[in-house]
Amino acid sequence: MTVAYAPGKIILSGEHAVVYGRPAVALPVTQVRAQATMEDAREGQGLVIEAADLGQTIIGREEQASSSPHPLAMSVFAALGYLGLSAEQDLTITVRSDIPIAGGLGSGAAVSTALVRAVAQHFSRPLPAQEVSRLVYQVERLHHGTPSGIDNTVIAYEQPVYFVRDQTLETFPVGRTLTLLIADTGEPSSTKEVVGAVRQAWQRSKHAYESLFDKMGEIATLVRRAIEEGDLVQVGGLMDKNHQLLQALEVSSHRLDSLVQAAKDHGALGAKLSGAGRGGNMIALVTPDTRREVERALLHAGAERVIENEVKAAAENDAAAVSPAAPARPDEGLP
Ligand code: MEV
Repeated sequence: MTVAYAPGKIILSGEHAVVYGRPAVALPVTQVRAQATMEDAREGQGLVIEAADLGQTIIGREEQASSSPHPLAMSVFAALGYLGLSAEQDLTITVRSDIPIAGGLGSGAAVSTALVRAVAQHFSRPLPAQEVSRLVYQVERLHHGTPSGIDNTVIAYEQPVYFVRDQTLETFPVGRTLTLLIADTGEPSSTKEVVGAVRQAWQRSKHAYESLFDKMGEIATLVRRAIEEGDLVQVGGLMDKNHQLLQALEVSSHRLDSLVQAAKDHGALGAKLSGAGRGGNMIALVTPDTRREVERALLHAGAERVIENEVKAAAENDAAAVSPAAPARPDEGLP
């Protein structure tokens, strides 16, 4: 039996702008995770995926014949194809995840990542993060329209990333431990729909939107520097500015704004929505002194759940610069 995992993610800075080529900063969320368990099955059974949380059983042969296979089956087919193995495997896979679905925490990319890793481990062919990310991106692209590739990247690398679509993928050191509270509005957020709505608005007013994206990109670069320098006050101020720009982009919501305000009123260093928006989760940067007070305020203001995520300060030499040529967005077709 093989078990593989993948974490969730938050975007600390630069969501939406990253789709338009500006830099963004994302962090892994290891307090929640997706899990794929793989077992050999009796001969002739074929591939069966039990998606416990979705209450679905996915049959490999049916998905192979479908013009739009289920993303979970696609993830397994992509990994098997990459390893040069037939899609006709007798395997039972069980998928579970405590990452909220449609919450902006990368649940889809995390489940795909856990599946790709499980296939690779099961056949004793472990894959580097870069390859896992590439395979998951192929699945993301088929099911989410025009993803930038940041979700699959941060989840596969499990490190803070500074990301520019098609150009730059760098992990970087955290100068001082970041403690973030992640609060769920309970409103579902469809990345595909919100990214589509932003695209329509951008087509109507390109000049205004490009200028907002430029400002968000500048903030992401400053956020990275402030994190490296351990300047948490600066990180918080930049998160606040980023949230205002996201409001101007019309991707916030009443509930997101009230949670952001509640966090700020109770001592958070900064707060913003995270991910596509119009629902989903917001994040607040806190300190050991303010974390409990801010958590209480978020719950009082209606948050359905609050997760605490710590990104530990690391020695500088822990960070690895990854080749800018690393293909986070492969153009190869699926097998
Ligand atoms: C989603 O986590 C972040 C967005 O920027 C979409 C993307 O980058 O593909 C909204």
